[in-house]
Amino acid sequence: MPTITDSTLDDCITVPYNMQRTFHVWEGEKQMSRYYSGGRARHYNRRWRRYTEKTLAVAIAMIDFAALHRVPEELGRPPRLLDVACGTGILLRHLLECVPGMEAYGVDASADMLAQAQEALMDQPHVRLEQREVNGTGLPYPSRTFDLITCTNVLHDIRDPVGFLSDMRRLLAPGGQLVVEDFARRRPALLWAVFEWLARRIEEGPVRAYTLAEAQALCVQAGLHVVNGKAFPIDWFWHGWALRAG
Ligand SMILES: C[S@@+](CC[C@H](N)C(=O)[O-])C[C@H]1O[C@@H](n2cnc3c(N)ncnc32)[C@H](O)[C@@H]1O
Repeated sequence: MPTITDSTLDDCITVPYNMQRTFHVWEGEKQMSRYYSGGRARHYNRRWRRYTEKTLAVAIAMIDFAALHRVPEELGRPPRLLDVACGTGILLRHLLECVPGMEAYGVDASADMLAQAQEALMDQPHVRLEQREVNGTGLPYPSRTFDLITCTNVLHDIRDPVGFLSDMRRLLAPGGQLVVEDFARRRPALLWAVFEWLARRIEEGPVRAYTLAEAQALCVQAGLHVVNGKAFPIDWFWHGWALRAG
């Protein structure tokens, strides 16, 4: 697969999967996500299956697939996808099945989640997986690169959401789509504050959930144009939102 980050290729450790396929796991940044490691990563798909099915279905429904299918004819190259905090690779896999031939990139802070993704994507021709912590400081891809950027179930973990979303805007190709989905902050406020306090202690990181309106406002602050937004229930406890911006 021709890569868009040849300058960073030397920094990659190439993990051969078999003779035809390679994955690249970038290990330049050693800030590992401790929460999504070990058994939590290995059992993530089983433990969060219903939640994942529901939330990713809503995120996928936000995507303008017709626009992606037009990219080869209009731009003379395959569509390019970046899944930020790709976790175990479920969304990448689904999107590659929907748009065969797409160049797919996945970044995540957790090596153990990426190991699951590597396994899930082993039959895909070429996928580039990179271990990176994303916190608004900028991903090392050229500007105006990706036709689709997805970011599901992680905005609550990102320290500088406006910085992060601004960088996503920089990375979007002209006409590109950013699809963001996450769980929503709920009421009563005091109980939710207790939940977030506990979650921060368990995850040892920032946990800050947004409502759909807040997420849309963050996008606007980042210079994005919000095309579509939807709030939805996941189960009795979790509620979610998803939006598409460009
Ligand atoms: C709840 S999982 C969601 C995975 C996937 N996006 C999905 O929707 O199934 C959160 C993922 O975000 C990753 N993550 C959390 N904070 C991150 C950060 N600052 N930079 C990169 N990845 C991060 C974790 O390692 C984990 O794989």
